[in-house]
Parts: sequence; C-alpha cells; structure tokens
Amino acid sequence: MTARFPVSRPRRLRTTQAMRDLVAETRLGVDDLVAPLFVREGIDEPLPITSLPGVVQHSRASVRREVRELADLGIKSVILFGVPATKDEVGSGAFDPNGIVQVALRDLRDDLGDRVVLMADLCVDEYTSHGHCGILDGHGSVDNDRTLEVYAKAAVAQATAGAHVCAPSGMMDGQVGVIRDALDGAGFSSTAILAYSAKYASGLYGPFRDAVDVQIIGGGDRKGYQQDWRNARESLVEVMADIEQGADMVMVKPALSYLDVISAVRAVVDVPVAAYHVSGEYSMIKAAAANGWIDHDAVATEHLTSIKRAGADIILTYLARWYAENARR
Ligand code: PBG
Repeated sequence: MTARFPVSRPRRLRTTQAMRDLVAETRLGVDDLVAPLFVREGIDEPLPITSLPGVVQHSRASVRREVRELADLGIKSVILFGVPATKDEVGSGAFDPNGIVQVALRDLRDDLGDRVVLMADLCVDEYTSHGHCGILDGHGSVDNDRTLEVYAKAAVAQATAGAHVCAPSGMMDGQVGVIRDALDGAGFSSTAILAYSAKYASGLYGPFRDAVDVQIIGGGDRKGYQQDWRNARESLVEVMADIEQGADMVMVKPALSYLDVISAVRAVVDVPVAAYHVSGEYSMIKAAAANGWIDHDAVATEHLTSIKRAGADIILTYLARWYAENARR
C-alpha cells in the first residue's frame, strides 16, 4: 500500500476574490505614489504632450489646481519639473529664485502648506541650451565638479521656495554630499534628499524629453554619467555612496527593466527605496492600449504592483492620478 502524503494545494487560496485579497503579499496604495508634474513658464493654458497621452505641461495656475485635486484624491506627494522660457549654458533657471519651479513651489506651499510632500527634481538639463545634465568643459564633456556648484545653488533655491525634498537626478559623483552641505549651510537641515542613485542611460526617457523640450546637442547621449544597463552590481556602489553622503531615500530608474536592481537595493539598505516608472514605460502602455492590444487598467495595475513587489516603497508614476481615480485594488 502506498503511503498517503499531503499534496500541497495552493489553488485553495485562489478560489475567491475575497480569499485572494486576504492572502495578497503586496498591496499598492495611493500613499505609495508620487505624481511627476511639468510646469512651463509663460503659458496661460495647459499644453498636451503628444508622446505622453493624458499628461500636460502645466501653467502656473493649472499646476495649483492639479496638486489640490491630487491631494483630494489621496496623492500626497508630487515631483516638479520645469520648462523654462529661455535656456543658457549653465542652466540658470534651475537656481534663479524666479525660475519656474521655484515660483510654482512658492505657490504650492502657500496653497497647501505641509499637506503634500513637495519634491523638486534637481538637475539642469531642462535649463541648459545644450541639454546636458551639467556644465560643459572646453571639450563638450560634462564637468563633474563645476556642475556640483550649480546643483548646490539649485538645492538652496528649491528649499528656499518651499521644497520638502530635493531630488538630484544628474548622476554627478558627489552630488548628494555637496547638496546636503549646501542645504545645512543655508539653514535647511530639515529638507530631505531623494537621490536618483541608480539611474540608467535608458532609451525609455524619450517622451520625457518631449515634455521638457530637451534635445541633447549633436544627437549626444548621457552615457558618460548615467549607468550602463548591462550593470547591476554597480548600482549598489552608487546607492551606498549616496547614503554615506546623506541621502534620506534612494531611487532606481527606470523601474520595470530594473526590477532586479530594485530588489538588490532593497536587500541591502534600510532607507526608503523609490522607483521611477518613467515616461517610456507609461507611453508604451498607453500606445498598446490605444491600439486595443492590451487592457490598459489590467496592465497598468500589474506593472505598478510588480514594482512594489520587487521592493520599492515609493513609486513615481504618471499613472498616479489614474490609479487614485480608477484602479482595481
Ligand atoms: C533629468 C531627468 C530625466 C528624467 C527625470 N529626470 C531625463 C534624462 O535623464 O534624460 C526622465 C523621467 C522620465 O522619462 O519619465 N532631469
């Protein structure tokens, strides 16, 4: 007689929706999400962005409305990107007290106080005539240390304008330490830093560059400062360096092609881990759904939940408003 042994029956826990909800390991909520917003200088009405369907370049007034509505929907964190009216060699708009992001931060802080976490992307690519994330040397390469001086000024300008969080995205070596020192030196020791620590030279930022009107001079790229997507271990070097320099939170970007990196980072740090579901990731869902090839809501929920499951505590996503309004939880 053969011995009877218990057969594992995982399907027992999949029998009803209520049962599946009970045993779900990962729960995605509006508290996890940060909405990226573009604010453009000198426009009166929001302008659509063709390659980012449903996302707009906001006017000063419309971004105020949007953040209030997001807060009412439960999205309590936003990250601002500026589109200046004019650009120059050093990206002055990034640190000018009257630069568009600084103006918008003051408005939002007046409107909402501390109800919403106001984050400011800290970089100069939106503001430079050449489209690079830093200051160029005589040979057209980005000069790391001269760029750090500009980042320090931008951090103080953002904090002065009311940012709760500065989020350096330029991938310059030493940027977090220099920004921490500048903030502390100017009396902003409570302003936090969300470091874009593991940011890859990805092909998925295309629609974002339309959103901020950035073209890299001479058809160049960012491979001299952003990470090579063949590398994963290198991300841990970047993350540990940023934490040592004072990063309060670290980020992996993009998200879906780098779930292994999110998971590896989560395993070694105890600070909050963010992931950026970037423009190309969003637009691919929108385009395929518009063609009737995928179910938008199902794929969008699956993608965001996968990023959380991989280990992200915080997700920056253009889907934030949609999720708050519609998602199946
Ligand atoms: C740089 C920056 C970029 C994004 C966020 N910050 C673009 C880049 O590195 O070229 C991309 C975000 C997205 O694609 O949604 N300031």
